[in-house]
Amino acid sequence: MLKHRFFGVQFFGIMLLSLLSLVVNLQAQTASPTLNDSKLDARVNALLRQMTLEEKVGQLVQYSAGSPTGPGTGRGDYPDMIAKGGIGSLFNLTGAREVNAMQKIAVEKSRLHIPLIFGLDVIHGYRTTFPVPLGMSATWNPALVEKAARVAAVEASSEGVRWTFSPMVDIARDARWGRIVEGNGEDTYLGQAMARAYVRGYQGASLQDPSSILACVKHYVAYGAAEGGRDYNTVDISDRSLRQAYLPPFKAAVDSGAATVMSAFDDLQGVPSTANPYTLTQILRGEWGFRGFVVSDWNSVGELIPQGVALDPAMATRKALTAGVDMDMESNSYATTLLQQVKSGQVPQSVVDEAVRRILRVKFAMGLFEHPYSDEAKSPITTLDPEHVAATRAVAEESFVLLKNDAASGAPVLPLSSTVKTIALVGPLADDAANMLGSWSTKGDAKDVITFRKALSDRLEQSQGKLLYAKGTDILSTSDTGFAEAVSAARQADVVIAALGEDAGLMTGEAASRAHLDLPGNQQQLLQALAATGKPVLLIVFSGRPLILNWEAAHIPAILEAWFPGIQAGPALVRTLFGDVNPSGRLTTTFPRAVGQEPLYYNAMNTGRPAGDVDLTRPPNGAGEKYRSRYIDEQSSPLFPFGYGLSYTKFQYSSPSLSAQSLTAASLNSGSSILTVSGEVKNTGSRGGSEVVQLYIRQIGTSVTRPVRELKGFQKISLAPGESKKVEFKLGKDELAFWNIDMKNVVEPAKVTVWIGPNSTEGSAAQFTIN
Ligand code: BGC
Repeated sequence: MLKHRFFGVQFFGIMLLSLLSLVVNLQAQTASPTLNDSKLDARVNALLRQMTLEEKVGQLVQYSAGSPTGPGTGRGDYPDMIAKGGIGSLFNLTGAREVNAMQKIAVEKSRLHIPLIFGLDVIHGYRTTFPVPLGMSATWNPALVEKAARVAAVEASSEGVRWTFSPMVDIARDARWGRIVEGNGEDTYLGQAMARAYVRGYQGASLQDPSSILACVKHYVAYGAAEGGRDYNTVDISDRSLRQAYLPPFKAAVDSGAATVMSAFDDLQGVPSTANPYTLTQILRGEWGFRGFVVSDWNSVGELIPQGVALDPAMATRKALTAGVDMDMESNSYATTLLQQVKSGQVPQSVVDEAVRRILRVKFAMGLFEHPYSDEAKSPITTLDPEHVAATRAVAEESFVLLKNDAASGAPVLPLSSTVKTIALVGPLADDAANMLGSWSTKGDAKDVITFRKALSDRLEQSQGKLLYAKGTDILSTSDTGFAEAVSAARQADVVIAALGEDAGLMTGEAASRAHLDLPGNQQQLLQALAATGKPVLLIVFSGRPLILNWEAAHIPAILEAWFPGIQAGPALVRTLFGDVNPSGRLTTTFPRAVGQEPLYYNAMNTGRPAGDVDLTRPPNGAGEKYRSRYIDEQSSPLFPFGYGLSYTKFQYSSPSLSAQSLTAASLNSGSSILTVSGEVKNTGSRGGSEVVQLYIRQIGTSVTRPVRELKGFQKISLAPGESKKVEFKLGKDELAFWNIDMKNVVEPAKVTVWIGPNSTEGSAAQFTIN
């Protein structure tokens, strides 16, 4: 009896729990509408029907309410405009209290109570600053990048920011372009993986989660292909290259649910990206089914005038809006000219309605009408969360790329022995907190940075070692007055560490293209003076792009590329140098030998007259050697290739084995067949380490030329000393299709070479045929 009663209670309890979880699940489902949810459309349309034309135009207008990131409008009457329903979004405003104050005007004073979205460039962390995005990409670890984006979302949202203008997924093949630092480098496949990771991290499981922020994938599109690497410059690439190389990371972000897209500054194939119906409407909405909204870049609507496709703000508005730019960031053109143009019939009302719909859909999807305010108890962020700090250190450690590690006096320079007695630390970036934050460290605080000097001196204190520090020179200095002190420190040391590189603010990021890619100022001369002491020298390079390091690579035994590593720069570097962690970063951009090689990228086409590296000390030996695709005064190969990076241990690769020798194009195109490529990787050294196993292909016999190599898979694996692991990759339609001669994305009959290897120039090959 008792037993039954107990069973009855238990049964009832279980039923109740299941019922509850059903309710919770149902709630979660209804509470987390995606942009595709048709229920949202009903709410959007109901609201739209109540709106005046003025209020509709207001939703399409965005202003910067804080420190500018471009030329401003001089406007500041935002409270008044908001109360009249004249603004849809503000950006560059942070702090829950500050944001709530503006939101209150929108929600309480405007006629229809439509909340604002607050945006900000949260590019690599909010307060907890992570390595710059190019550094993050060098981790080849999307899961880690997703975590970094989540940390950024949690911090930004707690300060009222629910929209970030990130990720930047522009493919960048030219190291001169300053904005190469903001993206994931030159490769499309890796760029897609990183794009997905950022979107997942920012937007979380549901847009309605108060800690989720909207992603804004930018700069749409091909902005990174600026001629000569000069920022904002013309882009004239083929449609095939656009679709093959530049568009896929945007599509990956959109497929992962990115709620917004930013149109770019560039002029693409003669049509500015901010007035381009082909990319903004035909491809983005038509082909990809994007249901979020497009915001312009800063004043890019206004810039249609100097670009020459608009005579005045009214024409700029017409062109941008009808092409598919829903929200005007900061140009003031929509706000001042759109109303009149709709009234006069120059802009159809339906175009305005559709743009408003897209913006309202996002506002509903993120639950802004239900929860317009931020929790003021969490803001401002006064202390750093230890878990967030640990996350940024982990990312920094995986971002470092060991470029060279030769023996100096018998053993490789790195890792440093724990008993090293005296280290001379030299260079303008050794103790520079501000630069460690990198460009776009919007809310990063130099006070949070632990510099390399500080971390190294703490470490040496523990081991009774001695640190001799001398700055030597400034980043851009031409004076050598500090050299003598630096050289004297070097003479007294067992090891010399030179911390050299770029100024993050001046030389990297937006409007920071460089025509010269050497170490700036007289830093190379300082390095030469240090090397002349005969002491083993380790060079740490802090940069937002590949630099030209020919002399350095020829004369300095150890080089570590550290990018701009964020607030944990010092601890991450020290742990790496002393071997607590083993470097596992790999280059995501090619390092050139000369500026004249740019744009230089690994997945280029072969020519009819390819040349390997040639002997430049003598004239070509006959016509066969002369008439080659080469420079007469420099090699064609890079100094360090894409995918490259060393470890403190060694990895050995088996030849790849394939699940089939031939497949048919038809079965690959229909998705009914897939090829498995596998290989063994062994750690043959005496330390544990992580390897980025990379899979490349080349297709020949196709209707259009295909790159000499293309990344189509990668896995980061860790291996204990002596351990082997089997690594498996799948090649199916996604990997093997390309934009063919008929501009169809299909798999074609081809002979395919497959490599599994440690970078884009090594690895052993296998072949298969597609019939
Ligand atoms: C940049 C964008 C940025 C925007 C807002 C522009 O100058 O190109 O990347 O998101 O400013 O700050």
